[in-house]
Order: sequence, then structure tokens, then C-alpha cells
Amino acid sequence: MDNIVLCGFMGCGKSTVGKNLARKTGKKFIDMDSYIEKKAGMTVTEIFDKFGEKGFREMEHEACKELSNMKDLVIASGGGAFTFKRNVEVFKGKDIIVLLDVPVETIKYRLRHDKTRPLLQKPDRDRVMQELYRSRMPVYRSAADVVVSGKNTPLSTAFAVLEAVNSIK
Ligand code: S3P
Repeated sequence: MDNIVLCGFMGCGKSTVGKNLARKTGKKFIDMDSYIEKKAGMTVTEIFDKFGEKGFREMEHEACKELSNMKDLVIASGGGAFTFKRNVEVFKGKDIIVLLDVPVETIKYRLRHDKTRPLLQKPDRDRVMQELYRSRMPVYRSAADVVVSGKNTPLSTAFAVLEAVNSIK
């Protein structure tokens, strides 16, 4: 069976929605960042510190390739994964790519205390988020097979994803 891959901006709910979706579908849930961390034996922050963003993106690409070769998964991708064409190409046409669409103001609120995302550890975090969001959303949209609003609870979003996925099959 196909994998369902959730994409979207940091804080859009890929992991929490993904866990609910896995429960509903009987698929196995995999969080891409956790998968990378386990393989590397360090946290995403440590990977950025030690190998830079470039090193992290290489590991992320390897993770995309490995996960796309597995079956019957719900994958919560990292927020940067689908901004790279090479990662889109790994999944496109093979697995179902779902964008969770959440307004930037909601994301800002959800991530206001976040310390785990290296890209946001800046004094002007709101501006950084705004700019990244503006440049990334069109890229996510063109990568996705289907777009679902992620504004509601993780459970109702999981239902909406399931409905959307079934409607395009
Ligand atoms: C990133 C998002 C993070 C993580 C890393 C880089 C990004 O994942 O992969 O910090 O470039 O948007 P989440 O989307 O799970 O926060």
C-alpha cells in the first residue's frame, strides 16, 4: 500500500496529525526528523551544530530515499524536505503527498516558545518565519497531491486527510 507523506511548514501539525492518521489507517507512523536523529545518534540541533544545514539536508535526503522504499507508512516529513526538488522526486507519483495548510499567524503562535528548530533560533524569529513561509508555501503546493487545512484539531484534520486521500485514489 502507498505511503501517505505529510508536508508543510514547521508547526503545521505533521507529527500530531500523522499519529492520528496512522491510528485510523492501520499504517505505521514515522517522523522523519526522529528517524534522522536515531540514525545519526544526535538531535537535529546537534546535527546542525556539527555538520551545518547542508549536512542535515544530506541526511534528510537519504531518509527520504529510505522511507520511500518502505510500505504502508504515514510519514511526517521535516518542514524543509519538500522545498528540495530531489526529495519531491523521490515521493512524487509513488506515495501520496499531503500539504497541511495552516496560516502563518497560527504557526507563529504555536512556535512562540520553540527551542528545537535551529532555523528559528534568531532574535527576529517572526520575520524569519514570515519570509520562509512566503517563499515555501508555493513550493509545498506544487509538490502536494492534495491540500488539507490543518487549522482544526489533529483528529479532525486526520479525518479530513483521509477523506481527501480517498477522493483522489
Ligand atoms: C526544518 C523543519 C524541522 C526540521 C529542521 C528543519 C525546516 O522539522 O527538519 O529543523 O527547514 O523547516 P519540522 O517541520 O518537523 O519542525
